[in-house]
Amino acid sequence: MKPSLKTITLRNLINFLLLLTVVILVVLGVRFRQISVQIMEDKALALAEVVKGGLTAHMKGGIMDKRDYFLNEINSLTLVENVKIIRSKEVNSQFGAGLDLEEHMDDMTRQVFERGEPIYVIDDLSLHPNMRAVVPFIASSKGELNCLKCHNVTEGTVLGAISLEMDLTGYRNITLALLLVVGGIAVVFIVLIISNNVRTIQHHVQGPLEELIKRGEDAYYKNTPIDESRFECAEFENVAREFNMFAVDILQNQSEIETKTKRLEELSAEIEDAHKETIYTMGVIEEHRSKETNYHTMRVTQYCALLAQKAGLSEYEVDLITTAAPLHDIGKLSIPDSILMKPCRLTDEEFAIMKNHAEIGFNMLRHSKRDVLSSAAIIAHQHHERWDGAGYPRGLKGDQIHVFGRIVALVDVFDALATKRVYKEKWPLDEVARYIESESGRQFDPKLSQLLLNNFDEFVAILNKYQ
Ligand SMILES: [Fe+2]
Ligand SMILES: [Fe+2]
Repeated sequence: MKPSLKTITLRNLINFLLLLTVVILVVLGVRFRQISVQIMEDKALALAEVVKGGLTAHMKGGIMDKRDYFLNEINSLTLVENVKIIRSKEVNSQFGAGLDLEEHMDDMTRQVFERGEPIYVIDDLSLHPNMRAVVPFIASSKGELNCLKCHNVTEGTVLGAISLEMDLTGYRNITLALLLVVGGIAVVFIVLIISNNVRTIQHHVQGPLEELIKRGEDAYYKNTPIDESRFECAEFENVAREFNMFAVDILQNQSEIETKTKRLEELSAEIEDAHKETIYTMGVIEEHRSKETNYHTMRVTQYCALLAQKAGLSEYEVDLITTAAPLHDIGKLSIPDSILMKPCRLTDEEFAIMKNHAEIGFNMLRHSKRDVLSSAAIIAHQHHERWDGAGYPRGLKGDQIHVFGRIVALVDVFDALATKRVYKEKWPLDEVARYIESESGRQFDPKLSQLLLNNFDEFVAILNKYQ
């Protein structure tokens, strides 16, 4: 099933909002980290300045030997850990080895001495995030004290450095809390935006669409125009207006089409009736010429319809055989009157001529491509074939004979026996039934014979009706 307009819109909206939230959180996180790092670096620099100032003050006050107390105090400051002072070779050679706190030359410190610039290393992914900073003390002639004179060095010489570590846990926690708050706010806004969109879609799209479909059916089936003013937005109002115009157009055309169709159906029925009547009349003409009992054609037609129904043929096939059956003896039109109307038994020669009527009838009808006349051709050709193959003109056997041919063969004989002919009296009905029983599987299709015998009264009713 295809997703609805609402589902598609919401899916796109959610994807977009989630992406937007992730981007905002990433930008905020990165930016806040940069700010935190900058603050920590500034702090480290400020602290380095304080330590430098403190040591200079000790030196100037002549209490350099008491500076460990000062350094220990600095070490115990909040957020500050592992404060170390590293003295340069120049200072060591000038004043001798320093305190324990002053001997921590490592790779990072060595780089600071070489470059004369601070280095900061941040580890904010571990459980205890921290930053290590090493800030150089650089000799300068500026300021109240001239370092160059005291230490006997040139401008820019790195006299020492301060190494310290700062705890970043607080900053990281604040960053995470901020991201959590922003994420939470984003979720709240996403929910609000989605619910607002759901409401908007339902109110302005889905509702009007459903209304349009419902009213559209009314407009079409009940000829009630859609009320355009009931839609709040212009687009739906336009659609309703167009639909009304369209519906009026269709309805007008439809009534015209209905009238024409009705007329066509009447004409078609008339043509079909005329066609059937013509075929039937041709059968009746033949019937009159051969002096058959009155209504033979009518009765054969009715028996065929009844037996075809009992045999389970389709409605179309029943109609075909009913229409085509009157032409079964049409070939007799070519048989000379002397033979056709002979009131007594035919000689063998005469009978041979008489038998030609099946082939003649077939040749009269076989050129037609219409189902009715093609069926009539088959019936004319096969209605004297026998189930056991002893019939004429081709000696077809069993199922080789078309079911139309087998039906007409049976009911034609049934009617011939049950009615008076120029050459014979009519047989009593029980004798007719016995004959059919005895010829079942010989002259007649056994299944069809059984059907006729099982429903004998219905066939007799037709016989009695058309006398
Ligand atoms: Fe015949
Ligand atoms: Fe007949």
